Amino acid sequence: MQVASRRSVRAPRPASVAGVAGTDPASVRTWDRLAGSYGRQERREQHAVDTALRLADPGPRDTLVDLATGTGLVLRRLAARPAQAVGVDRSAAMLAHVGPLSDDTRLLRADARDVPLPDGHADVVTISYLLHLLSPADRAAVLAEARRLLRPDPASRLVTVTVWTGRAPPARLAGRVLAAAAAARPAALGGLRPLDPTADLRAAGLHVDRRVELPRRGYPSLVLRARLPAGRTPDLRTP
Ligand SMILES: C[S@@+](CC[C@H](N)C(=O)[O-])C[C@H]1O[C@@H](n2cnc3c(N)ncnc32)[C@H](O)[C@@H]1O
Repeated sequence: MQVASRRSVRAPRPASVAGVAGTDPASVRTWDRLAGSYGRQERREQHAVDTALRLADPGPRDTLVDLATGTGLVLRRLAARPAQAVGVDRSAAMLAHVGPLSDDTRLLRADARDVPLPDGHADVVTISYLLHLLSPADRAAVLAEARRLLRPDPASRLVTVTVWTGRAPPARLAGRVLAAAAAARPAALGGLRPLDPTADLRAAGLHVDRRVELPRRGYPSLVLRARLPAGRTPDLRTP
């Protein structure tokens, strides 16, 4: 397994989310600290990740980029092997826990807001359990980067997984409880803040064509598949 770390030629973007060291649920420090125990909860993500991969449906000629790959659950759950897969994460400790991968899969230590891969590199981009950790500005930056990475073809697809409790009244109450707990302990529970990123995807110029809500079997989750609009050559640099 190969871990590459490349400095971007672009200027670094400002630090995000809560801004207070140690309370940012997306910070490198948070995930370096959680890396050793992260594998113990992966079974709660597995059903949603498998659903995401079913919707993503990577083929043997496809290139897949998994943004915020963490300990590599998405890469390890790939049933059909794409031609190439790249797992991107900015926490070296999380990447160190990925474990064995196939030869056509590599890891890249980089920020998902500024990925050192060329425009149109991927047929499939996956983002599993990241977006709900981020501020709206950082969500927009990550989704703009995901869009830039997608090959400019309506068949290319982005699949996201977020924590989501649903819109029905009991689910909304559960969501509010979860959001309050996440706000009280952002570094530990910030990842459990429910989010439906449909509006973020739309703002990034992507349209959602599949939506699967998974209230049971693991974290209550939402899986969305989004595509570039048909019949239009996208300007990859402008969301
Ligand atoms: C909740 S874990 C999800 C890991 C994996 N995708 C999964 O589903 O198990 C969140 C991951 O996002 C990474 N992360 C947070 N902000 C990031 C960013 N701006 N760029 C790259 N990775 C980031 C963290 O290092 C962590 O590994």
